[in-house]
Amino acid sequence: MKVGFLQTSPVFGKKDENIDTALAKINQLDTDLVVLPELFSTGYQFTSKEETLALSEIVPDGETTRTLINLSKEKDLYIVAGLSERENGRCYNSAVLVGPNGFIGCYRKLHLFYNEKKWFEPGNIEPEVYDIGKARIGIMICFDWFFPEVARYLALKGADIICHPANLVLPYCPQAMITRCIENRVFAITANRIGTEKRTEEALTFIGTSQILGTKGEILYRAASDRDEAIVVEIYPMKARDKQVTPMNHLLHDRRLKFAFPGEK
Ligand code: ACM
Repeated sequence: MKVGFLQTSPVFGKKDENIDTALAKINQLDTDLVVLPELFSTGYQFTSKEETLALSEIVPDGETTRTLINLSKEKDLYIVAGLSERENGRCYNSAVLVGPNGFIGCYRKLHLFYNEKKWFEPGNIEPEVYDIGKARIGIMICFDWFFPEVARYLALKGADIICHPANLVLPYCPQAMITRCIENRVFAITANRIGTEKRTEEALTFIGTSQILGTKGEILYRAASDRDEAIVVEIYPMKARDKQVTPMNHLLHDRRLKFAFPGEK
């Protein structure tokens, strides 16, 4: 299976431009699945709820999702892309999955980072794992990496590949995701952005270094920190279905849950 990512540098608020840039890059790829960054069509640094609402879209009928669906049909591929979702006057930092047959699903970021808490509601729908034929895929967004429960939850639900749209600013994630892959024996595709946004006193610089990781934490490709990239790598998703670490150790069956979460029921 061919899987890839776009590492982009969205311009805040320039939705049409950001979408067109991403579309042109996807058009050049030969891939089964491509992952785009978090909030790829709007940019990241919102400054008010009104602004967030104005740039957000309903899913799946909004412009960004519809455009991605059309491209998926044309190119016969699957796309995971981060966008700002609006529903009943509330906004969610979401990611959609679309494919050749149209809209498949939407994930709402569970763990909001820093000022995102001012503009977005935390995710309120159960993360799903989607069987797209060549693999089962799960989605988490950026800061979700800091909470190992999300990747574990997706692995327990059968994900072979974790698609991870991101707008990373802290430096730790690329290395931490290696552990997420080892401890769950899954592939991971982190699609991050580059560039700086300074729409408030506080500038945010995004670290790039998007990556595709193998089930044993191998770095199959890691991007630069300072340039746009569009990368495809060939993987064998079925490797993620073998959770046997030694003949006597199974990654999921050997867990000792009674002791893992002291104080929790
Ligand atoms: C982040 O969650 N965008 C850092």
